[in-house]
Amino acid sequence: MLGNFEYHNPTKVYFGKGALENLNEELKNYGKTVQLIYGGGSIKKNGIYDAVVAALHACGKEIVEDGGVMPNPTTEKVLEGAAIAREHAVDLLLAVGGGSVCDYAKAVSVSAYCDGDFWQKYYVDFEDPTCKVIPVACVLTMVGTGSEMNGGSVITNHKEKRKIGHVFGSDVMPKFTILDPTFTYTVPKRQMVAGIYDAFNHICEQYFSGEDDNVTDYLCEGLMRSIVVSSYKAIEDPCDYEARSNLMWAATWALNTLLDMGKETDWEVHMLGQAVGAYTDETHGMTLSAVSLPYYRHILPYGVKKFRRFAVEVWKVEEKGSDEEIALKGLAALEHWMKDLGVAMNISELGVTPDMIEGIAEATRVMDGGYKVLTHAEIVKILQESL
Ligand code: NZQ
Ligand code: ZN
Repeated sequence: MLGNFEYHNPTKVYFGKGALENLNEELKNYGKTVQLIYGGGSIKKNGIYDAVVAALHACGKEIVEDGGVMPNPTTEKVLEGAAIAREHAVDLLLAVGGGSVCDYAKAVSVSAYCDGDFWQKYYVDFEDPTCKVIPVACVLTMVGTGSEMNGGSVITNHKEKRKIGHVFGSDVMPKFTILDPTFTYTVPKRQMVAGIYDAFNHICEQYFSGEDDNVTDYLCEGLMRSIVVSSYKAIEDPCDYEARSNLMWAATWALNTLLDMGKETDWEVHMLGQAVGAYTDETHGMTLSAVSLPYYRHILPYGVKKFRRFAVEVWKVEEKGSDEEIALKGLAALEHWMKDLGVAMNISELGVTPDMIEGIAEATRVMDGGYKVLTHAEIVKILQESL
């Protein structure tokens, strides 16, 4: 049974080939100074930077450059960006890139005018912003995180060896987001498949919880099937528009505040993956894939009905044998697909060594919405099985 909820997603989406042409019209709603936020330079190579700058100039905006946002953005970089935003009294933070760039823009949005330590306030104490928040908008170039239409912002603190996400409210979510699937054609294959697995896992995190039959389960199963089908097409031809557009929209819906309405969610794979990320600085989707199967095999006995349903509805496993046998066949099908994608299948290949396990386990937040609240010993066991 769905619990009560209030639903409101304020992000306006422009989707499709040429969607960037809507930028000019949107920019009219904001003041003169725009902080142009981007990553390590991919947008300068593929022409997206020039197109965005042309739109900003056409609208008479003053551009304050803020490039060099790294994958897994850091606390130091957020402080740098917040100082830029304050100094220039920017009116809009325009993130042009993937999840890292968009997450970083949200962190800058709530930190520029924050009194005190933004890390402690938002990422340790999970407080809501009480200061002025700068509007954020997004031009997405890499599919996976859903950051383009949600309030999530994940920041890495290398000193403390912690990678933590805060889900901010609607005032921090992008005001508008531009999704042109052709912008993703140049994403390297390793990043593309990591993003595909990330999106798929966002759905798993919201699916593997609860015992009820509700509308969300059906939405999840449809989205998962669509991602699997499109993933094969995109691997074969990175410029397959149908596949790229399906992946882009499915990934947005995978984490745009819809699927978790009125139901419990898990998110333990993400907590494990983020802790691995804090120690390795590895690609987010790979940190998830590397721990997923040991985790799901561990919790399967506590949620066997749902894992059985996953096997039958998502992977079309024949309904022969015990519930547990069918459920395990579903995880075998998931494993097969992950290997076809080419995502990381263990944490050793991401640079984790046995001596890191205790620290990673310590950095793993324990969630209580899934099928099993993990003990520290169980976390250590899952990480050891992931090696
Ligand atoms: O930095 P540049 O040069 O732009 O290159 C990037 C980067 O190296 C490259 N790239 C992006 N678009 C490209 C491209 N290369 C060629 N052509 C393009 N069109 O891809 C690399 C990875 O980019 P990044 O933004 O780091 O990837 P992703 O979108 O996977 O974002 C990962 C971050 O998002 C967080 C993750 O933890 C991680 O820090 N997440 C955010 C979430 C949210 N906001 O809700 C939820 C997720 O679970 C996730 O935790
Ligand atoms: Zn994720």
